[in-house]
Amino acid sequence: MNSKNRLFLALLSACCLATASAAALSEAEINSRVNDLLSRMTLEEKIGQLNQLSGYGYAPEMVGHIRSGAVGSILNEVDPEVVNKLQHEAVENTRLGIPLIFARDVIHGFKTIFPIPLGQAATWNPAIVEEGARIAADEAGSVGIRWTFSPMVDIARDARWGRIAEGFGEDPVLATALGVAMVKGYQGDDLTKPNTMAACAKHFAGYGAAEAGKDYNTTWIPEELLRDVYLRPFKALADAGSATFMCSFNDINGVPSSGNRKLLQNILRDEWGYDGLMVSDWGSIQQMIPHGYSENLRHAAAQAVDAGVDIDMESYAYTGHLRDLVEKGEVSEARVDSLVRNVLNLKYRLGLFENPYVDMASAKRFYAPASLEAARRAVEESAILLKNSGTLPINNSKVKKIAVIGPMADAQHDQAGTWVFDLEKEHSVTPLTALQQMYGKENIIYAPGLEYTRDLNTKGFSDAVKAAKKADVVLYFAGEEAVLSGEAHCRADLSLPGAQSRLLDELKATGKPVVLIVQAGRQLALMHECETADAVVYCFHGGTMTGPGLANLLAGTTNFSGRSPVSFPRMSGQEPLYYNRKNTGRPAEGITLINDIPLEAGQTSTGCTSFYLDAGDGALFPFGYGLSYTTFAYSDPVLSATEIAPDGSLTVKCTITNTGKRAGAEVAQLYIRDHVASLVRPVRELRGFEKITLQPGESRTVEFQLHPSDLAFHINGAQTAVEPGEFSVWVAPNANEGNPVKFNVVKPAEIASR
Ligand code: BGC
Repeated sequence: MNSKNRLFLALLSACCLATASAAALSEAEINSRVNDLLSRMTLEEKIGQLNQLSGYGYAPEMVGHIRSGAVGSILNEVDPEVVNKLQHEAVENTRLGIPLIFARDVIHGFKTIFPIPLGQAATWNPAIVEEGARIAADEAGSVGIRWTFSPMVDIARDARWGRIAEGFGEDPVLATALGVAMVKGYQGDDLTKPNTMAACAKHFAGYGAAEAGKDYNTTWIPEELLRDVYLRPFKALADAGSATFMCSFNDINGVPSSGNRKLLQNILRDEWGYDGLMVSDWGSIQQMIPHGYSENLRHAAAQAVDAGVDIDMESYAYTGHLRDLVEKGEVSEARVDSLVRNVLNLKYRLGLFENPYVDMASAKRFYAPASLEAARRAVEESAILLKNSGTLPINNSKVKKIAVIGPMADAQHDQAGTWVFDLEKEHSVTPLTALQQMYGKENIIYAPGLEYTRDLNTKGFSDAVKAAKKADVVLYFAGEEAVLSGEAHCRADLSLPGAQSRLLDELKATGKPVVLIVQAGRQLALMHECETADAVVYCFHGGTMTGPGLANLLAGTTNFSGRSPVSFPRMSGQEPLYYNRKNTGRPAEGITLINDIPLEAGQTSTGCTSFYLDAGDGALFPFGYGLSYTTFAYSDPVLSATEIAPDGSLTVKCTITNTGKRAGAEVAQLYIRDHVASLVRPVRELRGFEKITLQPGESRTVEFQLHPSDLAFHINGAQTAVEPGEFSVWVAPNANEGNPVKFNVVKPAEIASR
């Protein structure tokens, strides 16, 4: 049979096979097949499995790599026909027929784009996140993508860092819950199903702590902090079965992650028992040279193998040097086998040996109506109402004409946010379109004022002001273009780019009520804007259905329930800014701001406490914050005990009542503080949350458990301790509010002696 016919038959059989999943093999069966295959592989073939390349179509050079067994997985190939042709080369035209894995950065949707992960975090709703991941896996799986480099669970405490957009914000407990939900959504209950993807917990580790919020920058993180905060979500994702991990670009305490044996081997594998796959970041093995950790690529390859990086993504370090390293006895073949084992294992777990091809009959399953609805709901739950002096919801009896202004009102590309390689922007429904549909085109006066968010040209201002004067309410859509956040897109200045702030002032000067709606990739510093506008809505880039979601919220068809997953700064210079900070020996009090200081005041006259003369102290809007069209009242928390032993648990109950006139969802947040400890503890730490919907007048009691692991912290590196002493506990609407109640952790001997 010639190869054309074989390809045809292979693709035909793929059509019949791919809709059904290959039966999942047991772990023992997978191990025995992996061992058998491994025993038949040459060293060259093994090294090929460890090599990941970026795709460039069905090109002769790539076909050559595949046929010679020099590549084991390919990223960035999304045309299902090309995927099948390349797969055919691997399955039919190599000695052992080992299938390829096709991978892609499907970060917040493949075609139907969901809010950026930071926006998904603002939903505080794991079910929304899981559903988004499920839909992404179905769409991406339909073109043969079976591995996504997501979720990113890097804790980020600095809004200057562009990649804050890609994670779940500043808190490890929130990031853990949402990261686990995302893994579940991608992987489903059976990874052999062709509409699932292997998840990838990234970037291991500490990447979000980049000094000064500058991407790829150095991180210095004491082991206790690393474990309490930065590793917490990773540990949970390892336990939840994230099929893969990716190591990070940064050096952490002097050692780049790609060569960091302590992280990759000692902590992840030995201590946590993780048995999935570790992929390098793009070129990160090679980058150990400029880091100053490796002499050359050969050295870097040896260090990465020793640390436990299974797949080399685009460094060509393994294909270039591993053979020589093994032949010279510097790396053992057994070590290479242990890496290859993880790759083959994943291929079996994905069912690729049985079911390697994309089913062309059901390929390209994009934009299903139910997926678009899910994306709209995600926008509705992710947008945060930061301020409302009664302008919202838009009052239909008073508002006849609406002015829609601003560069983000009709930005099909930019509303999608960062990390959308596969955007078809004509599918993005913008706020302008949605509002025109909702209120009738004739009632919307559109004048963008600025063409794009960085625009400094004010020639459009006069039309915008004219539009505002003719309208009963002004909806001003400002923010950041997608390109201003994401990898390598950090900002030192967190103000609204371009002339957007000036335009807001001019709109306000018309005397019309102005609603500022911000779409951005991070929390911006909007002190002036929040004072100026009558209402402020914050929407991290919302994706395909931004328009319909926002229109429903502005009109009041849906109520706001988004809560901030980050602390909003008053000024850029406050960063890094996060709620779970330490108290210091001189916590802020008696703040005197710069313009209130008398001339020639004495150096100590402003008090000597911890605040800024210009920004004061604390966030403009704290972590967990968000308003609603209704109001909620919290009872004081009720504890099941006022004393517990260090290994004891506690129940915390709190009754929440909807005290307003319409239904709404509230996020009850459980915080603790350990008042005195041998390593000073943060002023508050989130330990649980629950989003509940209440009808007007309805009350519900939420119940949380506090276990020893919630009260423990790391000490002396890896050791954990629950120390006796006083704790406070809050159930609160955000990190600044709520009434604390106290309990004590008491030594067992003390309890016994009473
Ligand atoms: C990013 C990763 C991404 C990889 C592959 C890198 O630049 O840091 O997050 O998964 O590229 O595209």
